[in-house]
Amino acid sequence: SLPVENVQELASNKELNSVPDRYVRPELASDVVRVDDDSLKIPVIDLSRLNDDQHFGHHELAKLHHACEDWGFFQLINHGVREDLIEKMKDDTKEFFKLPLEKKRAYAQLPNSIEGYGQAFVVSEDQKLDWGDMLFILPQPANDRNMRFWPTHPPSFRESLDQYSAEMQKIALVLFGLLAKNLGLEPEKLTDPFKDGLQGVRMNYYPPSPQADKVLGISPHSDADGLTLLLQVNEVQGLQIRKNGIWLPVEPIPGALIVNIGDVIEIMSNGRYKSIEHRVVVNPKEERLSIAAFHGQKSDVDVGPIPVLVKENDPNYITVSSEEFKMQVITNKLDGKSLLDHMKI
Ligand code: SIN
Ligand code: FE2
Repeated sequence: SLPVENVQELASNKELNSVPDRYVRPELASDVVRVDDDSLKIPVIDLSRLNDDQHFGHHELAKLHHACEDWGFFQLINHGVREDLIEKMKDDTKEFFKLPLEKKRAYAQLPNSIEGYGQAFVVSEDQKLDWGDMLFILPQPANDRNMRFWPTHPPSFRESLDQYSAEMQKIALVLFGLLAKNLGLEPEKLTDPFKDGLQGVRMNYYPPSPQADKVLGISPHSDADGLTLLLQVNEVQGLQIRKNGIWLPVEPIPGALIVNIGDVIEIMSNGRYKSIEHRVVVNPKEERLSIAAFHGQKSDVDVGPIPVLVKENDPNYITVSSEEFKMQVITNKLDGKSLLDHMKI
């Protein structure tokens, strides 16, 4: 991967009136973006109701099924994660990005590794660049942690991430079980592959941009994992999802987690649940921060449609080993191609 300028540093230059060419996306001018329409808001799912076996529970499960089939995205409320832990994780993330550049660089990505502080993978001189920096860490499985990438400043960062990571994995597992139920499967069919599976946490920092309408914080993509749980650190809007060719902003609900179906669940469900394309836009005046937790399968699990979900022996996706899948994630990214296109039959 090629080294890229630090975006926070670039944006801190008060004389900067226009952004360098490599960040400018001419195609944005012709995109259709919808705003201010209540009917286009992503579904809101109440986890406390999902856990109830009575009437409310059934209703909420049906809502969840609809959200996974028609949207691939939903907001999760009443998820039960302690508010003080969420606030601590947010504060520590903000504090980390406030550190001087040389302090943050102590956790810099190494060549050809995705873990650490830096920018998204860049492979060619003419590739467009994302307007944002990130700290990416692989907290699970806990035995495989590489502590050199875990900041020691602020002092509570490691403890916050350790606890936050465990809470996110717990919620993801509950959701995997409910997704299985909604697909007519034993919960274990979806919890076993992800129990003690791989988890990545990506902390994003998007500085304001003098040409906010011409840049993207993250290019359009779908997530390669099973389920992603996203926490908005501040109230600045930025995430957009693509539905019927139109980009829809996702309005942050305070306290909610934004959940989305990743490629692995689209494949395992044989296409019943959708991994939706999304991107991040940038604010002209305010910085934006977010924390995405990605939940992947264990290393000994094959990725392919679950046999009972394949009608008349007609799978919509190929089946590959977990290792092969991870390789395809990287290869297709380098090629600028969608992993799902590679997996589709
Ligand atoms: C993403 O990880 O794709 C979105 C992150 C964000 O909303 O900042
Ligand atoms: Fe994403």
